[in-house]
Amino acid sequence: MRIEGLRVAILGGRTGLLGQALTKAFGRAGAMAFPLSRKDCDVLDPLCVEKWLDRNDPDLLINATGYTQVDLAEDEPEKAFALNATAPPLLATLAARRAIPFIHYSTDFVFNGSKHSPYTEYDEANSTSVYGISKADGERGLLKLGYDRTLIIRISWLFGPGRTNFVKKILGLADTRRNLSVVNDQIGSPSYTPDIAENTIRLVERDASGIFHLANSGETSWHGLANTAVNLANKDCTVSPVPTSAYPTKAVRPSYSVLDLAKFTRTTGATPRRWEDALRQYVLEDLGLGA
Ligand SMILES: NC(=O)c1ccc[n+]([C@@H]2O[C@H](COP(=O)([O-])OP(=O)(O)OC[C@H]3O[C@@H](n4cnc5c(N)ncnc54)[C@H](OP(=O)(O)O)[C@@H]3O)[C@@H](O)[C@H]2O)c1
Repeated sequence: MRIEGLRVAILGGRTGLLGQALTKAFGRAGAMAFPLSRKDCDVLDPLCVEKWLDRNDPDLLINATGYTQVDLAEDEPEKAFALNATAPPLLATLAARRAIPFIHYSTDFVFNGSKHSPYTEYDEANSTSVYGISKADGERGLLKLGYDRTLIIRISWLFGPGRTNFVKKILGLADTRRNLSVVNDQIGSPSYTPDIAENTIRLVERDASGIFHLANSGETSWHGLANTAVNLANKDCTVSPVPTSAYPTKAVRPSYSVLDLAKFTRTTGATPRRWEDALRQYVLEDLGLGA
């Protein structure tokens, strides 16, 4: 699909961490991006979304919305399932009626973390958290619908400009504390939202459909990510590794959720850059810290 001149509707594109990066990347690539907020279109109200689509006639519909509060989801399962499981197939149905491609984002948290090598698209979703189960249900609903122009992109550990995220929170805390403790026994692939957006465009250019894994290359722990960010930003703060047992959370997170990027590379010919390089860009250029 040619990006130049493409009319792209991006649900979550106005305020979402990933949505904002998608809006910028599609704009830079010559598309006409329509970022939508909850006020423009509540995805829980498909009629409202349909009216918007009728009025604006996009060529591509992207769902970058989601219930993303992993711990709160344990107390609000109805809200998590409404947004993460019920809404995606309804949105895909609207895209199917118009015969336009539909892109949806899922998560590494659909896995329970029992593997010790990167998760491929063929591994079974087996999360035990409400968030992970609701996202896996959303994927299943889309696959069951069977609209062949659906692209599901599983991503992980997002950081980037425009909205608070793990790295930004750590750097804020590093201003007020001499020491931070961060878990070092959960391993994953950090992902810079502008890189996810650029690489989404690569998949769109190749008319990709089905499930793809996407992240920055490499892997680390939350401690590794926090420590690297604090060092890049030259903060006067040490980051100590602690086990998950020292920092219990309501939702159980996977101890290992690195995503295998081979299918993305086979399809696009591109290899995402390493997370350390992307983190440097975020800390030094986007946040203007360090050096
Ligand atoms: N963050 C991560 O580390 C991560 C990791 C893996 C996968 N993902 C997935 O990636 C996607 C994007 O995540 P994100 O971190 O960018 O999310 P986010 O920053 O929490 O943004 C979610 C967006 O969805 C919008 N939204 C929520 N409910 C809505 C509704 N009923 N109608 C319309 N819009 C609604 C929000 O609008 P408001 O600002 O008005 O609330 C916001 O713009 C999600 O599917 C998430 O599951 C995220």
